[in-house]
Amino acid sequence: STPLRILGIETSCDETASAVVLRDEQGGGRILGDVVLSQLEEHSAYGGVVPEIAARAHVEALDTLIEEALLRAGVTLKDIDAIAATSGPGLIGGLIVGLMTGKAIARATGRPLYAINHLEGHALTARLTDGLPFPYLMLLVSGGHTQLVLVRDVGDYERWGTTIDDALGEAFDKTAKLLGLPYPGGPAVERAARAGNPQRFDFPRPLVGDARLDFSFSGLKTAVRQAAQSLEPVTDEDVADICASFQRAISRTLNDRIGRGLKRFKADHPAVDGPALVVAGGVAANQTLRATLQGLCDEHGFRFVAPPLQLCTDNAAMIAWAGAERMAAGLPADSLDVAPRSRWP
Ligand code: KG4
Ligand code: ZN
Repeated sequence: STPLRILGIETSCDETASAVVLRDEQGGGRILGDVVLSQLEEHSAYGGVVPEIAARAHVEALDTLIEEALLRAGVTLKDIDAIAATSGPGLIGGLIVGLMTGKAIARATGRPLYAINHLEGHALTARLTDGLPFPYLMLLVSGGHTQLVLVRDVGDYERWGTTIDDALGEAFDKTAKLLGLPYPGGPAVERAARAGNPQRFDFPRPLVGDARLDFSFSGLKTAVRQAAQSLEPVTDEDVADICASFQRAISRTLNDRIGRGLKRFKADHPAVDGPALVVAGGVAANQTLRATLQGLCDEHGFRFVAPPLQLCTDNAAMIAWAGAERMAAGLPADSLDVAPRSRWP
């Protein structure tokens, strides 16, 4: 196959991002230019992402970011072989902005458009960063998603587990809010937990022992609320102990759930030499989570692949790369009347 240069656009949540990625003849990937503008400040006063504010911020920033990505890559639109834009799942206003911009560029340049599922971007990132061969397991843990996915091939995924209530990042964010910690909650909970006693509270570990591979985190949040209410007034030491105990409960849940997944992968793929577990999503920043997953992988003989953090969180390089993989695999480009989808199971 020939080298491909793909322009990527990502606007599904609160990051406006654009990137140019190169896929070489051997299938290796390289990021030529990559820019991400976080809208964290626009939303922090509201304690969460406000869809209308997000959509407007994407409109304001996107063309400048695309120009910047091309500039950093040292290319112009003439050098681009295809455009890849996230078309779902996500906040519909942002998706419309990014996908319509992608369509306009595709129309103006005559290049094909790939409408990318955001989750496929996360799923294929480890092939860009680590050249990982198929098949492998991926754990996506972000503010909106908690999924264990078998990645078999480009466009061939099987969801093995998902959350039946809150996403893991959402559980961190809600716990932080209950404890009066700032938004986003994940980093704040992790920071507070450092000084805490993880043994003080025995929080629930829902679905542990369940044969399915699903997750549940809303009971944990309720237990945190009850613990905090029983202590009023809650001291800094209490907050630290609650956060540390919360993280321990999550570690124990993941140990059980993901441990089952690793066993199943080995049973289903006895011929795969050096099986791998990839982590993606903002919660992948958490050191307790990383240590848990690393320990599990060591125990089960898996390679633990954690791409650099800026590629675990939302970015456009993963979208460009998913477009490159689709194009190289000979999958069809999308028609210019493809519609954005807020939900895309
Ligand atoms: O992938 P991401 O950046 O964005 C979306 O979900 O769209 O993930 C953000 C989530 C938030 O819920 C945030 O609280 C969580 O990742 N997070 C963390 C940490 N850093 C970010 N959770 C736990 N520990 C962290 N250090
Ligand atoms: Zn994401």
